[in-house]
Amino acid sequence: MNTQVDFQQIFNAAPQAEASAPGRVNLLGEHTDYNDGFVLPTAIPQHTTVSIGFSPNQNHHFYSLELQEQIDLETTADTDEGFSSYLLGCIRVLEKAGQQIPPLNVFVVSTVPIGSGLSSSAALEVAMLRGLRSLLDLNLDDVKIAQLGQKAEIQYAGVQCGIMDQMASSLADPQHLLLLDTRTLDRQLVRLPDDTEILVMDSGIPRTLAGSGYNQRRAECEAAAQQLGVKALRDITDPTAVEALPEPLLRRARHVVTENNRVLEAIQGVPAERFGELMNASHTSLRDDYEVSVPGLDRLVDLLQHTAGVFGARLTGAGFGGACVALVATGKAKTIGQSVLERYNSEAHQGAILVPELDAEPIV
Ligand code: GLA
Repeated sequence: MNTQVDFQQIFNAAPQAEASAPGRVNLLGEHTDYNDGFVLPTAIPQHTTVSIGFSPNQNHHFYSLELQEQIDLETTADTDEGFSSYLLGCIRVLEKAGQQIPPLNVFVVSTVPIGSGLSSSAALEVAMLRGLRSLLDLNLDDVKIAQLGQKAEIQYAGVQCGIMDQMASSLADPQHLLLLDTRTLDRQLVRLPDDTEILVMDSGIPRTLAGSGYNQRRAECEAAAQQLGVKALRDITDPTAVEALPEPLLRRARHVVTENNRVLEAIQGVPAERFGELMNASHTSLRDDYEVSVPGLDRLVDLLQHTAGVFGARLTGAGFGGACVALVATGKAKTIGQSVLERYNSEAHQGAILVPELDAEPIV
Protein backbone atom coordinates (compact mmCIF):
# COMPACT_ATOMS: atom_id res chain seq x y z
CA MET A 1 0.00 0.00 0.00
CA ASN A 2 1.29 3.47 -0.82
CA THR A 3 0.95 5.15 2.56
CA GLN A 4 2.68 8.27 1.28
CA VAL A 5 -0.36 9.55 -0.57
CA ASP A 6 -2.68 11.85 1.36
CA PHE A 7 -5.62 14.17 0.70
CA GLN A 8 -3.33 17.06 -0.23
CA GLN A 9 -1.51 15.04 -2.87
CA ILE A 10 -4.63 13.57 -4.43
CA PHE A 11 -6.76 16.73 -4.44
CA ASN A 12 -4.13 19.45 -4.44
CA ALA A 13 -5.69 21.21 -1.45
CA ALA A 14 -5.98 20.74 2.30
CA PRO A 15 -9.05 18.94 3.71
CA GLN A 16 -11.64 21.08 5.48
CA ALA A 17 -12.95 18.38 7.83
CA GLU A 18 -11.75 15.04 9.14
CA ALA A 19 -13.51 12.35 11.21
CA SER A 20 -12.93 8.76 12.31
CA ALA A 21 -15.09 5.87 13.48
CA PRO A 22 -14.17 2.37 14.74
CA GLY A 23 -15.14 -1.10 13.61
CA ARG A 24 -16.91 -3.31 16.14
CA VAL A 25 -16.94 -6.85 17.44
CA ASN A 26 -20.10 -8.33 18.91
CA LEU A 27 -19.72 -10.44 22.08
CA LEU A 28 -23.29 -11.76 22.26
CA GLY A 29 -26.65 -11.06 20.61
CA GLU A 30 -26.19 -12.17 17.00
CA HIS A 31 -29.00 -11.77 14.47
CA THR A 32 -31.16 -10.28 17.20
CA ASP A 33 -31.07 -6.62 16.15
CA TYR A 34 -33.55 -6.90 13.27
CA ASN A 35 -35.81 -8.80 15.68
CA ASP A 36 -35.95 -5.76 18.01
CA GLY A 37 -33.69 -7.66 20.45
CA PHE A 38 -30.56 -7.11 22.53
CA VAL A 39 -26.92 -6.89 21.41
CA LEU A 40 -23.58 -6.54 23.22
CA PRO A 41 -20.88 -5.17 20.90
CA THR A 42 -17.70 -3.24 21.65
CA ALA A 43 -15.56 -0.94 19.52
CA ILE A 44 -12.25 -2.35 18.21
CA PRO A 45 -9.03 -0.33 17.82
CA GLN A 46 -9.17 -0.51 14.02
CA HIS A 47 -10.92 2.51 12.54
CA THR A 48 -11.70 4.42 9.37
CA THR A 49 -10.81 8.07 8.80
CA VAL A 50 -12.50 10.25 6.22
CA SER A 51 -11.07 13.63 5.14
CA ILE A 52 -13.39 15.93 3.22
CA GLY A 53 -13.09 19.15 1.27
CA PHE A 54 -15.23 21.04 -1.25
CA SER A 55 -14.75 19.90 -4.82
CA PRO A 56 -13.55 22.66 -7.18
CA ASN A 57 -15.97 21.44 -9.89
CA GLN A 58 -19.46 19.97 -10.19
CA ASN A 59 -18.45 16.36 -9.43
CA HIS A 60 -17.84 14.29 -6.30
CA HIS A 61 -14.34 12.74 -6.17
CA PHE A 62 -13.85 9.77 -3.81
CA TYR A 63 -10.43 8.23 -3.13
CA SER A 64 -9.71 5.05 -1.12
CA LEU A 65 -6.12 4.64 0.05
CA GLU A 66 -6.48 0.88 0.67
CA LEU A 67 -7.99 0.23 -2.75
CA GLN A 68 -5.84 2.90 -4.42
CA GLU A 69 -8.89 3.79 -6.40
CA GLN A 70 -10.52 7.07 -7.33
CA ILE A 71 -14.18 7.32 -8.34
CA ASP A 72 -15.46 10.53 -9.95
CA LEU A 73 -19.21 11.01 -10.02
CA GLU A 74 -21.63 13.63 -11.17
CA THR A 75 -23.59 14.75 -8.12
CA THR A 76 -26.81 13.25 -9.50
CA ALA A 77 -25.23 9.96 -10.62
CA ASP A 78 -25.64 6.58 -8.92
CA THR A 79 -22.93 4.05 -8.23
CA ASP A 80 -22.81 0.48 -7.01
CA GLU A 81 -19.01 0.42 -6.87
CA GLY A 82 -17.68 -0.68 -3.49
CA PHE A 83 -16.65 2.02 -1.07
CA SER A 84 -18.12 4.83 -3.14
CA SER A 85 -21.66 3.43 -2.80
CA TYR A 86 -21.42 3.83 0.99
CA LEU A 87 -20.13 7.39 0.69
CA LEU A 88 -22.78 8.32 -1.85
CA GLY A 89 -25.40 6.54 0.28
CA CYS A 90 -24.54 8.86 3.20
CA ILE A 91 -24.82 11.90 0.95
CA ARG A 92 -28.17 10.72 -0.44
CA VAL A 93 -29.79 10.04 2.94
CA LEU A 94 -28.85 13.57 4.06
CA GLU A 95 -30.21 15.03 0.82
CA LYS A 96 -33.44 13.09 1.35
CA ALA A 97 -33.64 14.61 4.82
CA GLY A 98 -33.60 18.05 3.14
CA GLN A 99 -29.89 18.85 3.41
CA GLN A 100 -28.05 20.40 0.46
CA ILE A 101 -24.70 18.70 -0.09
CA PRO A 102 -22.19 20.45 -2.36
CA PRO A 103 -19.80 18.51 -4.64
CA LEU A 104 -17.10 16.98 -2.42
CA ASN A 105 -13.58 15.60 -2.42
CA VAL A 106 -13.39 12.65 -0.02
CA PHE A 107 -10.28 10.70 1.02
CA VAL A 108 -10.72 7.40 2.93
CA VAL A 109 -8.11 5.52 4.93
CA SER A 110 -9.01 2.51 7.07
CA THR A 111 -7.45 -0.17 9.23
CA VAL A 112 -10.74 -2.08 9.65
CA PRO A 113 -10.40 -5.39 7.78
CA ILE A 114 -12.90 -5.63 4.92
CA GLY A 115 -15.15 -8.71 4.78
CA SER A 116 -14.29 -10.11 8.23
CA GLY A 117 -17.58 -9.25 9.92
CA LEU A 118 -16.10 -6.33 11.90
CA SER A 119 -18.30 -3.67 10.31
CA SER A 120 -15.93 -1.91 7.96
CA SER A 121 -19.01 -0.55 6.20
CA ALA A 122 -20.56 0.91 9.38
CA ALA A 123 -17.20 2.49 10.27
CA LEU A 124 -17.09 4.09 6.83
CA GLU A 125 -20.67 5.37 7.07
CA VAL A 126 -20.26 6.77 10.59
CA ALA A 127 -16.90 8.41 9.74
CA MET A 128 -18.40 9.97 6.58
CA LEU A 129 -21.49 11.27 8.41
CA ARG A 130 -19.34 12.64 11.24
CA GLY A 131 -17.13 14.34 8.65
CA LEU A 132 -20.16 15.88 6.93
CA ARG A 133 -21.55 16.99 10.31
CA SER A 134 -18.37 18.86 10.99
CA LEU A 135 -17.90 20.23 7.45
CA LEU A 136 -21.47 21.50 7.09
CA ASP A 137 -22.18 22.17 10.77
CA LEU A 138 -25.13 19.77 10.78
CA ASN A 139 -27.28 19.30 13.84
CA LEU A 140 -26.98 15.50 14.17
CA ASP A 141 -26.46 13.59 17.39
CA ASP A 142 -24.65 10.25 17.54
CA VAL A 143 -27.87 8.20 17.47
CA LYS A 144 -29.11 10.09 14.42
CA ILE A 145 -25.77 9.44 12.73
CA ALA A 146 -26.19 5.70 13.36
CA GLN A 147 -29.74 5.76 12.00
CA LEU A 148 -28.68 7.60 8.85
CA GLY A 149 -25.77 5.18 8.37
CA GLN A 150 -28.14 2.20 8.63
CA LYS A 151 -30.46 3.82 6.07
CA ALA A 152 -27.53 4.36 3.70
CA GLU A 153 -26.58 0.69 4.03
CA ILE A 154 -30.12 -0.61 3.45
CA GLN A 155 -31.04 1.75 0.64
CA TYR A 156 -27.75 2.04 -1.22
CA ALA A 157 -25.69 -1.07 -0.35
CA GLY A 158 -28.63 -3.52 -0.47
CA VAL A 159 -28.22 -5.29 2.90
CA GLN A 160 -31.36 -5.28 5.08
CA CYS A 161 -29.19 -4.81 8.17
CA GLY A 162 -30.26 -3.97 11.70
CA ILE A 163 -28.98 -0.99 13.72
CA MET A 164 -26.27 -2.74 15.79
CA ASP A 165 -23.19 -1.98 13.68
CA GLN A 166 -23.82 1.71 13.18
CA MET A 167 -24.83 2.20 16.84
CA ALA A 168 -21.67 0.40 17.96
CA SER A 169 -19.45 2.43 15.64
CA SER A 170 -21.13 5.67 16.69
CA LEU A 171 -21.51 5.08 20.44
CA ALA A 172 -19.27 2.27 21.71
CA ASP A 173 -15.71 2.49 23.00
CA PRO A 174 -13.06 -0.23 23.28
CA GLN A 175 -13.14 -0.21 27.11
CA HIS A 176 -16.80 -1.20 27.46
CA LEU A 177 -19.49 -3.42 26.03
CA LEU A 178 -22.48 -1.51 24.71
CA LEU A 179 -25.68 -3.18 25.85
CA LEU A 180 -28.24 -1.97 23.34
CA ASP A 181 -31.98 -2.57 23.25
CA THR A 182 -32.50 -2.28 19.50
CA ARG A 183 -36.25 -1.62 19.90
CA THR A 184 -36.00 1.42 22.17
CA LEU A 185 -32.33 2.25 21.52
CA ASP A 186 -31.90 2.36 25.32
CA ARG A 187 -28.30 1.60 26.07
CA GLN A 188 -25.86 1.07 28.88
CA LEU A 189 -22.09 0.65 29.01
CA VAL A 190 -21.09 -2.54 30.81
CA ARG A 191 -17.73 -4.08 31.67
CA LEU A 192 -16.25 -7.38 30.61
CA PRO A 193 -16.09 -9.95 33.43
CA ASP A 194 -13.12 -9.29 35.75
CA ASP A 195 -9.69 -10.43 34.58
CA THR A 196 -10.69 -11.08 30.98
CA GLU A 197 -9.88 -9.61 27.59
CA ILE A 198 -11.00 -10.11 24.03
CA LEU A 199 -9.31 -12.04 21.23
CA VAL A 200 -10.64 -11.69 17.68
CA MET A 201 -9.41 -14.01 14.92
CA ASP A 202 -10.22 -14.04 11.23
CA SER A 203 -11.08 -17.46 9.80
CA GLY A 204 -9.83 -16.39 6.37
CA ILE A 205 -13.11 -17.69 4.89
CA PRO A 206 -14.67 -15.02 2.66
CA ARG A 207 -18.27 -14.10 3.48
CA THR A 208 -19.59 -14.94 0.03
CA LEU A 209 -23.21 -15.78 0.87
CA ALA A 210 -23.54 -13.08 3.48
CA GLY A 211 -25.82 -10.74 1.50
CA SER A 212 -28.42 -13.21 0.25
CA GLY A 213 -28.30 -15.53 3.27
CA TYR A 214 -28.68 -12.57 5.62
CA ASN A 215 -31.74 -11.16 3.88
CA GLN A 216 -33.27 -14.65 3.79
CA ARG A 217 -32.79 -15.13 7.57
CA ARG A 218 -34.37 -11.78 8.18
CA ALA A 219 -37.41 -12.72 6.08
CA GLU A 220 -37.71 -16.05 7.96
CA CYS A 221 -37.73 -14.23 11.30
CA GLU A 222 -40.43 -11.86 10.10
CA ALA A 223 -42.52 -14.82 8.92
CA ALA A 224 -42.02 -16.56 12.30
CA ALA A 225 -43.08 -13.43 14.21
CA GLN A 226 -46.16 -13.09 12.05
CA GLN A 227 -47.17 -16.72 12.59
CA LEU A 228 -46.71 -16.31 16.33
CA GLY A 229 -48.81 -13.15 16.30
CA VAL A 230 -46.13 -10.85 17.74
CA LYS A 231 -44.63 -7.63 16.41
CA ALA A 232 -41.11 -9.07 16.54
CA LEU A 233 -39.42 -12.19 17.94
CA ARG A 234 -38.13 -10.02 20.78
CA ASP A 235 -41.64 -10.28 22.22
CA ILE A 236 -41.17 -14.02 22.89
CA THR A 237 -39.06 -14.93 25.91
CA ASP A 238 -39.97 -18.59 26.43
CA PRO A 239 -38.17 -20.80 23.87
CA THR A 240 -40.90 -23.47 24.07
CA ALA A 241 -43.38 -20.92 22.66
CA VAL A 242 -41.87 -21.36 19.18
CA GLU A 243 -42.30 -25.14 19.02
CA ALA A 244 -45.49 -25.09 16.95
CA LEU A 245 -43.73 -23.30 14.08
CA PRO A 246 -42.84 -25.27 10.92
CA GLU A 247 -39.17 -25.81 10.02
CA PRO A 248 -36.95 -23.94 9.43
CA LEU A 249 -38.85 -21.12 11.17
CA LEU A 250 -38.84 -23.05 14.47
CA ARG A 251 -35.05 -23.20 14.65
CA ARG A 252 -34.58 -19.63 13.42
CA ALA A 253 -36.98 -18.33 16.07
CA ARG A 254 -35.46 -20.54 18.78
CA HIS A 255 -32.04 -19.04 18.07
CA VAL A 256 -33.34 -15.49 18.43
CA VAL A 257 -35.28 -16.19 21.63
CA THR A 258 -32.43 -18.06 23.33
CA GLU A 259 -29.85 -15.51 22.12
CA ASN A 260 -31.78 -12.60 23.63
CA ASN A 261 -31.94 -14.53 26.90
CA ARG A 262 -28.18 -15.14 26.76
CA VAL A 263 -27.48 -11.40 26.42
CA LEU A 264 -29.78 -10.57 29.30
CA GLU A 265 -28.07 -13.14 31.50
CA ALA A 266 -24.54 -12.06 30.51
CA ILE A 267 -25.06 -8.47 31.64
CA GLN A 268 -26.05 -9.51 35.16
CA GLY A 269 -22.38 -9.43 36.21
CA VAL A 270 -21.86 -13.19 35.71
CA PRO A 271 -18.32 -14.59 36.21
CA ALA A 272 -16.07 -15.18 33.21
CA GLU A 273 -16.78 -18.94 33.17
CA ARG A 274 -20.52 -18.37 32.76
CA PHE A 275 -20.06 -15.57 30.22
CA GLY A 276 -17.89 -17.97 28.22
CA GLU A 277 -20.50 -20.72 28.40
CA LEU A 278 -23.07 -18.31 27.04
CA MET A 279 -20.73 -17.50 24.12
CA ASN A 280 -20.21 -21.21 23.41
CA ALA A 281 -23.97 -21.79 23.48
CA SER A 282 -24.42 -18.86 21.12
CA HIS A 283 -22.08 -20.47 18.60
CA THR A 284 -23.89 -23.80 18.79
CA SER A 285 -27.19 -22.03 18.23
CA LEU A 286 -25.82 -20.00 15.29
CA ARG A 287 -24.42 -23.19 13.77
CA ASP A 288 -27.33 -25.59 14.30
CA ASP A 289 -30.47 -23.45 14.59
CA TYR A 290 -29.60 -20.35 12.59
CA GLU A 291 -27.27 -22.13 10.13
CA VAL A 292 -24.94 -19.21 9.49
CA SER A 293 -21.65 -20.94 10.32
CA VAL A 294 -19.29 -22.72 7.92
CA PRO A 295 -16.78 -25.55 8.63
CA GLY A 296 -13.75 -23.23 8.83
CA LEU A 297 -15.44 -21.05 11.46
CA ASP A 298 -16.54 -24.13 13.41
CA ARG A 299 -12.97 -25.42 13.40
CA LEU A 300 -11.48 -22.15 14.61
CA VAL A 301 -14.12 -21.84 17.34
CA ASP A 302 -13.52 -25.45 18.37
CA LEU A 303 -9.75 -24.90 18.65
CA LEU A 304 -10.34 -21.77 20.73
CA GLN A 305 -12.89 -23.45 23.00
CA HIS A 306 -10.41 -26.24 23.76
CA THR A 307 -7.47 -24.00 24.62
CA ALA A 308 -6.52 -23.29 28.24
CA GLY A 309 -7.23 -19.69 29.22
CA VAL A 310 -10.23 -19.38 26.88
CA PHE A 311 -13.58 -18.97 28.66
CA GLY A 312 -15.70 -19.10 25.50
CA ALA A 313 -15.65 -18.48 21.75
CA ARG A 314 -18.11 -17.99 18.92
CA LEU A 315 -18.43 -16.65 15.42
CA THR A 316 -19.14 -12.92 15.39
CA GLY A 317 -21.10 -10.76 12.97
CA ALA A 318 -23.43 -12.08 10.31
CA GLY A 319 -21.52 -15.37 9.83
CA PHE A 320 -21.06 -17.31 6.55
CA GLY A 321 -17.30 -16.75 7.10
CA GLY A 322 -15.35 -13.90 8.68
CA ALA A 323 -14.23 -13.62 12.29
CA CYS A 324 -14.54 -15.35 15.68
CA VAL A 325 -14.41 -13.70 19.08
CA ALA A 326 -13.12 -15.31 22.26
CA LEU A 327 -13.16 -14.23 25.90
CA VAL A 328 -9.77 -15.06 27.40
CA ALA A 329 -7.82 -14.51 30.62
CA THR A 330 -6.20 -11.09 30.92
CA GLY A 331 -2.80 -10.87 29.27
CA LYS A 332 -3.28 -14.13 27.36
CA ALA A 333 -4.89 -12.97 24.10
CA LYS A 334 -1.66 -12.70 22.08
CA THR A 335 -0.15 -16.04 23.10
CA ILE A 336 -3.44 -17.94 22.82
CA GLY A 337 -4.07 -16.29 19.44
CA GLN A 338 -0.63 -17.27 18.16
CA SER A 339 -0.83 -20.92 19.25
CA VAL A 340 -4.38 -21.39 17.90
CA LEU A 341 -3.40 -19.66 14.67
CA GLU A 342 -0.43 -21.95 14.15
CA ARG A 343 -2.64 -25.01 14.52
CA TYR A 344 -5.48 -23.59 12.39
CA ASN A 345 -3.21 -22.45 9.57
CA SER A 346 -1.38 -25.80 9.57
CA GLU A 347 -4.70 -27.25 8.36
CA ALA A 348 -4.50 -25.25 5.09
CA HIS A 349 -6.44 -22.24 6.40
CA GLN A 350 -5.41 -18.62 6.17
CA GLY A 351 -6.47 -17.22 9.50
CA ALA A 352 -5.17 -14.09 11.22
CA ILE A 353 -5.23 -12.39 14.60
CA LEU A 354 -7.19 -9.14 14.39
CA VAL A 355 -7.50 -8.03 18.04
CA PRO A 356 -5.20 -7.37 19.83
CA GLU A 357 -3.45 -5.62 16.96
CA LEU A 358 -0.10 -7.29 16.57
CA ASP A 359 1.67 -4.90 14.25
CA ALA A 360 2.48 -2.61 17.17
CA GLU A 361 5.05 -5.22 18.22
CA PRO A 362 8.76 -4.43 17.80
CA ILE A 363 10.41 -6.33 14.93
CA VAL A 364 13.11 -8.63 16.33
C1 GLA B 1 -24.56 -7.72 10.36
C2 GLA B 1 -25.64 -6.64 10.38
C3 GLA B 1 -26.12 -6.35 11.82
C4 GLA B 1 -26.48 -7.64 12.56
C5 GLA B 1 -25.37 -8.70 12.38
C6 GLA B 1 -25.78 -10.04 12.94
O1 GLA B 1 -23.40 -7.26 10.97
O2 GLA B 1 -25.19 -5.45 9.80
O3 GLA B 1 -27.20 -5.46 11.78
O4 GLA B 1 -27.71 -8.13 12.13
O5 GLA B 1 -25.03 -8.89 11.02
O6 GLA B 1 -25.96 -9.97 14.32
